[in-house]
Amino acid sequence: MFKIVTKRMLNPSVVLLEIEAPFIAKKAMAGQFIIFRIDEKGERVPLTIADYDREKGTITIIAQIVGVSTEQLASMEEGDALLDVAGPLGIPTHIDENAKKVCVIGGGVGCAIAYPQAKELFSKGIEVDVIAGFRSKDIIILEEEFKKQCNDLTICTDDGTYGKKGFVTDALKEKIESGSKYDAVIAIGPVPMMKFVCAVTKPYEIKTIVSLNPIMIDGTGMCGGCRVTVGGEIKYACVDGPDFDGHQVDFDELMKRNSTYREQEHDCRMLR
Ligand SMILES: Cc1cc2nc3c(=O)[nH]c(=O)nc-3n(C[C@H](O)[C@H](O)[C@H](O)COP(=O)(O)OP(=O)(O)OC[C@H]3O[C@@H](n4cnc5c(N)ncnc54)[C@H](O)[C@@H]3O)c2cc1C
Ligand code: FES
Repeated sequence: MFKIVTKRMLNPSVVLLEIEAPFIAKKAMAGQFIIFRIDEKGERVPLTIADYDREKGTITIIAQIVGVSTEQLASMEEGDALLDVAGPLGIPTHIDENAKKVCVIGGGVGCAIAYPQAKELFSKGIEVDVIAGFRSKDIIILEEEFKKQCNDLTICTDDGTYGKKGFVTDALKEKIESGSKYDAVIAIGPVPMMKFVCAVTKPYEIKTIVSLNPIMIDGTGMCGGCRVTVGGEIKYACVDGPDFDGHQVDFDELMKRNSTYREQEHDCRMLR
């Protein structure tokens, strides 16, 4: 059993949980994820390891409440326990050792995944710009945390209620055009956002890493659920990723595959 030691609502639909998982905390690295089950009837749900504390033996996950399992997760309290947590899964994020300046971009709850990446790069002495995008002010998460782990934080809101009005792609374009020389861009968020970030960086030939979120089941490369096409080749995001070269990813196929079970997910919500 994996005990919840801290629970915090970051906004009405995003929950942060710190969980006792000493073996995972010992090995976890930025870019990796876990798959948990709440109980014997629970679905297998993949979530990124947003943070870890090797000494305390805990990992932190941040989940947006979007359906049955994440709602059930958010209803758990400190002292409750998850039945099982498998991980760390996936390949840690790799950035060229000679990189001097990197831009990390998070969209919505994608910021939970972008945060450990910014933290790791910043701890290595790399100059890190963070661009975090949200629909509006009331759903901003991790602002204070990001401030401590980067050289420059730009918050964008679609409706202009906080920070810069507009999309993360506008802010990125502005930074590049005003002379910021990035050795790499890391983009994590909704699939269309990652696709458009890649469209911005491509003409400048800036290496762009995206973290893909296809539907995962086993997380060990056996079921084929997380199949994605990268550079014309079949890859399995759970074992070959979840990070990939964004300029090689077939985003349209990913969007199509991610909507395969939309009807069942909807029915599922209706049954609650
Ligand atoms: C590697 C990886 C890391 C992720 N990290 C995070 C994270 O840090 N924070 C976060 O909020 N979300 C993250 N997700 C997405 C998260 O797994 C889904 O939001 C969750 O499974 C939804 O389950 P549900 O029952 O609440 O919703 P449902 O109603 O079942 O589904 C809602 C939506 O979630 C997605 N989804 C459902 N089941 C899965 C599945 N087995 N695998 C992947 N996506 C699924 C689908 O797009 C679906 O439309 C990650 C996904 C992957 C693959
Ligand atoms: S989740 Fe089954 S192959 Fe990746």
